[in-house]
Amino acid sequence: MTALPLPELSAEARRAAVMASKFPRVRYMGSKYKLVERLAAVFSQLGGSTAIDAFSGSGVVSYALKSLGYSVTSNDFLNFPGFIARAAVVNQGDALSDEEVESICGTPADDRDFIQDKFDGLYFTADDRKFLDGAWSHIELLEGHKRDLAIASLVLAAARKQPRGVFTFTDLRYDDGRRDLRLSLKEHFRETVKAYNGVVFDSGHECFTATGDVFDLPTKGYDIAYLDPPYAPPRDDNCYIKRYHFLEGLSVYWRGQTILENTKTKKLAKRYTPFSYKHSVEDALFRTFKQFHESTIVLSYSSNAVPDLATIERLLREVKEKVDVHTLEHKYSFGTHATAARRNALEYIIIGR
Ligand SMILES: C[S@@+](CC[C@H](N)C(=O)[O-])C[C@H]1O[C@@H](n2cnc3c(N)ncnc32)[C@H](O)[C@@H]1O
Repeated sequence: MTALPLPELSAEARRAAVMASKFPRVRYMGSKYKLVERLAAVFSQLGGSTAIDAFSGSGVVSYALKSLGYSVTSNDFLNFPGFIARAAVVNQGDALSDEEVESICGTPADDRDFIQDKFDGLYFTADDRKFLDGAWSHIELLEGHKRDLAIASLVLAAARKQPRGVFTFTDLRYDDGRRDLRLSLKEHFRETVKAYNGVVFDSGHECFTATGDVFDLPTKGYDIAYLDPPYAPPRDDNCYIKRYHFLEGLSVYWRGQTILENTKTKKLAKRYTPFSYKHSVEDALFRTFKQFHESTIVLSYSSNAVPDLATIERLLREVKEKVDVHTLEHKYSFGTHATAARRNALEYIIIGR
């Protein structure tokens, strides 16, 4: 194993990290907000002009890549990361105006009540749920990046107001009275629109999104392939849909989604991914390495997941000549008391060239 210190922060990487630190923050399992400066240092040292962020999640790494001047493609198999990436990465200049925000927050454009009806008593207040239906009645009339901005802002508003940002429970057991829980969804929305509007900029390099399984992405055309798959835990699960089904549904107004009606949380059907299970993750990682073997591969992985570092290095060496590992201490904000030990994990940035 070659364990290396991280490259020095170049002026370019520092600038990109400062920009990314302003990216609207959504609490998201495995998000790399705290590591974005070190990732920017790695990317800027590797150079190149095109990049794929194959598991984009919150979008913060895509945004850092855009800030570094890459033409970046953001992909995730969930829908809502795609809206965030289109709003804040692909979008090079559109903003939602105050009038548009007031219209979204004003009298509904139709009498839809799907959210009020379906999630009555489960999440948020009656007024919040009414606002979500009303907001969607206006979003329906928007197009292009304005629509993306409105959806991303609505998703972020819902994530901020929900205790701990996850939709695995429906009572207020984590209600500690903090500001995020006291603000109405409409007030949150006004803030999140400002936050997304504030990070839109023209990088001069076209960016793209895809919404689908990593294995359906084109294999060529990226100087850098950044891979941040779910980390397969030795025990318990890391299901994104179980935690974020409401955000996923909200981003498409539940169209085309299958709600599991007999569940208390009204969650969506699970989305299978081979990265989540210890019996399939090794093969999935190896297939991803082979898929992107023409790119410089930058993989984020954690010491409290399977497989271990030695196995990952061995797999990567089968497709890449040179493999370097940077090791960082990283404290995840997720976990219960039972999993507290696992939160103090080592985070690896593994580079295959
Ligand atoms: C660790 S998170 C990525 C976090 C992201 N880098 C960030 O900073 O927010 C992993 C992401 O992979 C997505 N995902 C899981 N399996 C996938 C697959 N087979 N294809 C594409 N995306 C997948 C999940 O929806 C999740 O958003």
